[in-house]
Amino acid sequence: MDQAQRRASCRAAGELTIVHVSDLHSRHRRHLLETVIGLQPDGVMITGDLFDGVQSPKPAFEFVAGLRNADLDVFYVTGNHELYRQDVAQLLDQLRALGVTVLENEEVAWKGIHVAGVEFDAWPEDIRFPETEQIRLLLVHDPYKADRLSEATASLILAGHIHGGQWRLFHQGLAGPGHRLLPKYTSGLYRTVQGMSMVVSRGLGDWMKIPRICNPWHLPVIHLLLPEAGPMAEPDALKSGHEPVKETH
Ligand SMILES: [Fe+2]
Repeated sequence: MDQAQRRASCRAAGELTIVHVSDLHSRHRRHLLETVIGLQPDGVMITGDLFDGVQSPKPAFEFVAGLRNADLDVFYVTGNHELYRQDVAQLLDQLRALGVTVLENEEVAWKGIHVAGVEFDAWPEDIRFPETEQIRLLLVHDPYKADRLSEATASLILAGHIHGGQWRLFHQGLAGPGHRLLPKYTSGLYRTVQGMSMVVSRGLGDWMKIPRICNPWHLPVIHLLLPEAGPMAEPDALKSGHEPVKETH
């Protein structure tokens, strides 16, 4: 099948709109909820640090409850900041009670694809998801962990964690968690070392008091074109948009 035929079959089979939320750090972002709902996505994928190690979890729960009240499907994996909290088990139970799919090194079938998630404290190379011919969307907090996933683990990976590198110059982030200087994954669409496609969000919140510079909040919107049947999605079956979210305190 050539590229034109593949695109035609993708259009015939349908498209999923996915909003990628990362690193909210339980901050209140005015207009964020309305923005996400207004995009009318098929699902909302949260790639960790929804909560924060020290901030009250209330703003995060209000945001998620708003998504669920709008009848949106929400999927979630933990980030490092959830694991800093003593009450992480209760937080995850409360998310489940709201109807959020909490993915703990597992996958679920959803709207013709598979959605999988890797917990922050898991060793990704030890996780083996069952083989599938369907598209697999994989949520992981730290994009560097995606480099340790075996080839063809996923059709598309969503990640966050790096906060865009905090200060950005010439489209390059300068610093990331773990004392990383000039981190290679900061914002947008990448290829992992195993050749998988990965979208990295600059995030929607911060834990540091150090201000962002040239690094606005980031709400990627992904339009996933579904093939009629057959192998995993080809890279050209992916369109990734990036919706800036204005900072509002
Ligand atoms: Fe974060």
